Amino acid sequence: MEPIFDKLYQFTYKIPGMPLDCHQYLLLRDPAILFSVGSADMARDFLPKVKELLASRPLKYLFISHREWDECGGLAVLHKMFPETIVICSQNAAGNFKFNDYDGKVIACTPGQPFTDGGLELVFLPYPVEPHYNLGLLAYEKNSGVFSSADLFLKGGDTAGVVQESNWKDLVDAIPENFLNMGPQQPKTIAALRTINPEFVAVGHGPCFICR
Ligand SMILES: [Fe+2]
Ligand SMILES: [Fe+2]
Repeated sequence: MEPIFDKLYQFTYKIPGMPLDCHQYLLLRDPAILFSVGSADMARDFLPKVKELLASRPLKYLFISHREWDECGGLAVLHKMFPETIVICSQNAAGNFKFNDYDGKVIACTPGQPFTDGGLELVFLPYPVEPHYNLGLLAYEKNSGVFSSADLFLKGGDTAGVVQESNWKDLVDAIPENFLNMGPQQPKTIAALRTINPEFVAVGHGPCFICR
């Protein structure tokens, strides 16, 4: 399997009944981290591929942006296959994972909190995600330049492996007001986005972006 960007692997599934792709990503740094685990069906299908890519290395972390079926529906599946993996998520999501049959390790983080482990340096951004303004997180991994944007640049169509060239400032400027019902806290997210400078935007749904 070829990476979509440096040490970054994308796993794509169609969302049933919708013209929308759902992407998950493995960032094969030391330690390795997965961005989103997808639904249970997706997890059952792609986690064996993750295991293959890891070879004998552990999957230390799973980052979950927010508590929604396409981000964390596969948590119990992951926990069976990778019992040592630690979930990184917002305080809000961390309090709710028992509903996903997950009782593994969780680190609840807040926007701006520094998080460094070996070759990983994560920056967390606030994400007042739909549908209930739940406080989620977005994650930027500084050393790789990879930004995990969850639903932020959501677009439909067939987008597996699709990467478009763009410019970070233009991308942020083009986010519509109240995008996906982000509500009154959207300006906080936009302000936080302006403090980072990603090289690659790993989107949850739609084409990815390489920033020049
Ligand atoms: Fe979502
Ligand atoms: Fe999503």
